[in-house]
Amino acid sequence: MEEQKKPVILSGITPSGVLMIGHYMGAIRNWVALQHEYECFFMVADLHAITVRQTPADLRRRTLDIAAGYIACGIDPDLCTLFVQSHVPEHTQLTWVLNCLTSMGEASRMTQFKDKSGENAENNNVGLFTYPVLMAADILLYQADLVPVGDDQKQHLELTRNLAERFNFRYSPTFTVPEPFIPPVGARVMSLQEPTKKMSKSDKNEKATLFISDTDDAIRMKIKRAVTDSGTDIRFDEKNRPGVANLMTLYSTATGKSNAEIEREFEGLGYAEFKEAAAEAMVGFMRPMRERFLELRSDTTMLNALLAKGAETARNRARRTLRKVYKKVGFAELG
Ligand code: TYM
Repeated sequence: MEEQKKPVILSGITPSGVLMIGHYMGAIRNWVALQHEYECFFMVADLHAITVRQTPADLRRRTLDIAAGYIACGIDPDLCTLFVQSHVPEHTQLTWVLNCLTSMGEASRMTQFKDKSGENAENNNVGLFTYPVLMAADILLYQADLVPVGDDQKQHLELTRNLAERFNFRYSPTFTVPEPFIPPVGARVMSLQEPTKKMSKSDKNEKATLFISDTDDAIRMKIKRAVTDSGTDIRFDEKNRPGVANLMTLYSTATGKSNAEIEREFEGLGYAEFKEAAAEAMVGFMRPMRERFLELRSDTTMLNALLAKGAETARNRARRTLRKVYKKVGFAELG
């Protein structure tokens, strides 16, 4: 009997900082849950990272950090293809073709571009402008059916779908039009210091973010000092009590308890008791990840070998798509 082909997932994380709990909740947790049912490609998006100025040695180190983090969070490297984006040149090659299909208007409307280019004038580079097109190329090269991401990537996914449909219409059916997978819970983990702002790996205030490499004491300190709202009882209300709601989401992930169960557990108790419990739950939840991360990270040879194998698998797949694209747009074949 012919083996049923599995649908494909592609996703990635930009190594412009250290892996943090927002990445886990918005993305990796869902990759782990889906890895058995899908053929998975998970990359470290180093080409995306240089849209913001990086220290070369840091970028190199963080690329391996992110790859080790994937495995530490539960990705099985025997099931999934793990690779570094810059090891597969087809990503930049397809980007050029897609750039020529993207209008200035639609690229200008990307909110992440508007936010990031507005942050400081020095950072206003062309790469930042065309960043979502590179992301579309990442996805379309692998003919991905599903892209599990946090909610800040929704607009980029919409652009990817539009570009796939446009190419298919203008030439002939070539690309799978991917669906986003945005989880109902944890798609936007908020900053522990400013709960109306998204948690970010590059927040200047370290207390705002829980990193995978944080020690038990750092986790405790960050949760206990998390900014909560005026009020005393533990109730899930994202609109009026975003600080407590954010901590409840983390606590719920660590314990498997629903919001209703958490509200019942802390009935008659205050923020101090809840934060104490949330801190201990997160320490217990994150410790195995950190330990596994440190263990994997100490074996650079193993990580490099894994990524070399991943690059080869990814390239074979990417090459197939790019070859079709080049032919369809009319590039003359060599020889
Ligand atoms: P990046 O590196 O900013 O984030 C990686 C993934 O983590 C999710 N995420 C969050 N989820 C919940 N709460 C948060 N506070 C939070 N912060 C980040 C993001 O939504 C994302 O899923 N451009 C992408 C990387 C990328 C990519 C791709 C993703 C490049 N090519 C192709 C998917 C497919 C980025 O910079 O994500």
